[in-house]
Amino acid sequence: MDFNLTEEHIMIRDAAREFAKTELLPGVIERDDKQEFPKEQIKKMGELGFLGMMVDPKYGGGGMDTISYVLAMEEISKVDASCSVVMSVNNSLVCWGIETYGTEEQKQKYLTKLATGEIIGAFCLSEPEAGSDATSQKTTAIDQGDHYILNGTKNWITNGSTASVYLVIAQTDVEKGHKGINVLIVEKGMPGFELGPKENKLGIRGSDTHSLMFTNVKVPKENRIGEDGFGFKFAMKTLAGGRIGIASQALGIASGAYELALQYSKERKAFGKEISRHQAIAFKLADMATEIEAARHLCMKAAWDKDQHANYDLSGAMAKLYAADMAMRVTVEAVQIHGGYGFVKEYHVERMMRDAKITQIYEGTSEIQKIVISRSVLKD
Ligand code: CAA
Ligand code: FAD
Repeated sequence: MDFNLTEEHIMIRDAAREFAKTELLPGVIERDDKQEFPKEQIKKMGELGFLGMMVDPKYGGGGMDTISYVLAMEEISKVDASCSVVMSVNNSLVCWGIETYGTEEQKQKYLTKLATGEIIGAFCLSEPEAGSDATSQKTTAIDQGDHYILNGTKNWITNGSTASVYLVIAQTDVEKGHKGINVLIVEKGMPGFELGPKENKLGIRGSDTHSLMFTNVKVPKENRIGEDGFGFKFAMKTLAGGRIGIASQALGIASGAYELALQYSKERKAFGKEISRHQAIAFKLADMATEIEAARHLCMKAAWDKDQHANYDLSGAMAKLYAADMAMRVTVEAVQIHGGYGFVKEYHVERMMRDAKITQIYEGTSEIQKIVISRSVLKD
């Protein structure tokens, strides 16, 4: 494994860093406060190629590798995790899923617009009674010859109201269990497709999260991705890569909070010296820096595995588990280092602490990552 970044990697990282500083930082506190979707910012991210980074240029994407994606995700997440979750879902779940398993017609019709950010997508697996236990799908897609009839409810869908295209996982044949599940491309505006109210959340408050209701929605058969019964495998394979995106989101949130805490500790004085010169604070910074570096290596290893076409189920799950739990520890310490100032919004770290929490929950909770990891190590 080569630990050196290429010139192109450095250029992408620096471009993302500059964009985050100039375009995302202004207004990030207000957007969080008002739960305002970063519409203009996401539009610019699309124009700059951040929404379809790994997609083949012939479909409008950037043709970049996963390492570039991790670097950009970290930089965007350092400043605004509500923007980076949109980026993660669009890149690693929606675009990747359609590009890898979709038909040429599906790619021409949907991927070309998703990769440029002209439209954004959503990935709809979770249900009121099927979160971690994802094979327990209650949403049904009944085969009617040339179309499916879709009924059911999806919960917690990121980009719920702002997406135009939804990858919906649903049960076609209950008898076949997870082998009877399909994934359908559903368009906003299809008759019978309704949106639930926006969730009022602890963190990533700029991201819009909704439940979706489907009542007798007629979905043409050409909108199914893959063979009949491929839906659950599709979800698992897609999520394996998605977890690298969320791991780098957690890494970014933690490194953003760490950088603020480091700077603050060198400025704030107590008992006649900078607080960084009190060993209790210096040791916190040492732990934070070490854990962030460890998470960065895990994220890069998972990205490298993906780029080498090696299996990344295990490395992606390890990266997500470690980075998410680490982000929670580091952001709590960043608030602590700021003292009372850390508890108010204008110092950013309290938002980062709230944003970090979701990385332990979505795209498979930390407990689910341990299931994936333990099954893998026990099998070996
Ligand atoms: N690749 C390919 N196939 C896979 C796979 C993978 N990584 N993981 C599992 N499968 C296959 C299995 O091989 C099995 O198929 P066969 O019977 O043909 O071998 C099938 O899927 C079922 O697998 P399991 O028996 O292991 O299923 P399980 O019920 O024990 O559950 C689980 C496994 C890992 C816990 C899974 O249910 C899971 O990942 N749950 C978490 C769901 C999740 O991550 N949701 C995220 C929603 S999206 C989101 O959250 C987006 C966002 O926030 C921004
Ligand atoms: P549950 O599965 O009910 O879990 C509850 C608790 O039990 C957790 O701690 C869990 O780890 C634990 N648990 C469950 N099973 C086990 C077990 N076997 N062993 C040990 N512990 C276990 N989903 C989508 O499909 N698309 C999205 O875009 C999306 N975006 C989201 C955005 C937000 C803001 C949120 C909050 C959620 C989002 N989700 C999305 C849903 C998310 O993936 C689920 O919330 C998550 O998978 C957990 O499912 P659950 O909430 O039903 O919790």
